[in-house]
Amino acid sequence: MRQPRPAPWTEKIPAYVPGTSKETIAGRYGIKDPIKLASNENPLGPSPLAVQVMESSMAGVHLYPDPDAMELRAAAAAFFGRRSEEILAGNGSDEIIDLLCRAYLTPGREVIVPGLTFSYYRIASLVCGAEVVPSGMKDFRIDVDDILRKSSEKTGIVFLANPNNPTGTCLAEEEILRLCNGLPPETLIVLDEAYAAFVRQNDFLSAAELIDSHPNVATVHTLSKSHGLAGLRVGFCVACEPIISALARIKPPFNVNILALKAGAAALLDTDFLKKTLEITWQGLDYLYAEVHKLGLSCVQSQTNFVLVRVGDGCSRVYEELLKRGIITRAMTSFGLDEYLRVSIGLPRENEAFIRALREVL
Ligand SMILES: Cc1ncc(COP(=O)(O)O)c(C=O)c1O
Repeated sequence: MRQPRPAPWTEKIPAYVPGTSKETIAGRYGIKDPIKLASNENPLGPSPLAVQVMESSMAGVHLYPDPDAMELRAAAAAFFGRRSEEILAGNGSDEIIDLLCRAYLTPGREVIVPGLTFSYYRIASLVCGAEVVPSGMKDFRIDVDDILRKSSEKTGIVFLANPNNPTGTCLAEEEILRLCNGLPPETLIVLDEAYAAFVRQNDFLSAAELIDSHPNVATVHTLSKSHGLAGLRVGFCVACEPIISALARIKPPFNVNILALKAGAAALLDTDFLKKTLEITWQGLDYLYAEVHKLGLSCVQSQTNFVLVRVGDGCSRVYEELLKRGIITRAMTSFGLDEYLRVSIGLPRENEAFIRALREVL
């Protein structure tokens, strides 16, 4: 039968695997209120200032949103210490990643993606017909030297999440500078700082500072984690003007919805909420390190709002048993890390419930 055929490279694309939802586990095991520690969401809920402004904006949703996202970009400019012209707002940072690929890749170009990282870089690159070149990891850290070794005149984009998901590790300023200085100016370097707000490591370099000296650097940010707006979808690209105007030309006209525009701008001003988020995350991380250690297991030190826990042999059984007890974590089998679970930091009572269930299962 004759039928439309998708572009040949779409066949190589693996579907994105999201964290298991609370509804699925509630239905499967009859659990009233499962605890989801699988998608690095903010356990405090959304920023209260964002909720307030959405409530008062509801009556305006019959109107199209501002296609230039002026108010949101001005708020982001103040937050990142840059100018509005250096900022593009997206429907989540997933859309920013997608736009960067569509603007800078053509079929046959290569994209360097670390072996253990956020899976959407690979998907968005393959969608454009590009070839993905995996780079190596060293002790769960991205190996900058391997990226430099693998770069060639065919490299269109290098993706790097700093801190990285799912490892939680963060590169030092010296490594980021070595990478940016070592790559040619024609290669777009995408530095994804989805988890930058959570970093405690003091040699961290915030990439927004780099874009003056390195016009081939595009930084990616999200309000999904630190600002609690994952369901609303707000992300940003911060880069020099030529990159921003390339993305602005190809983006869907009304890509950020009217509530997200308002809520995003309000959330960026909600310093109290960000402070509480960081406090609860850091306390939760330190609690998990200590309790996991008491159980004779280890964690990969994390600079994010999640942690990789080495459960060892039988990790998939532990994952399933935790689900039966209403605790949703993320099994790392799809990353080839069969012995590890990725656990997002929750509220203190949620972290305690995870440890109690883990102790029981072990
Ligand atoms: C490193 C990284 N970048 C980007 C994203 C996407 O975030 P958003 O919700 O803004 O699309 C995630 C989500 O988990 C992530 O881990």
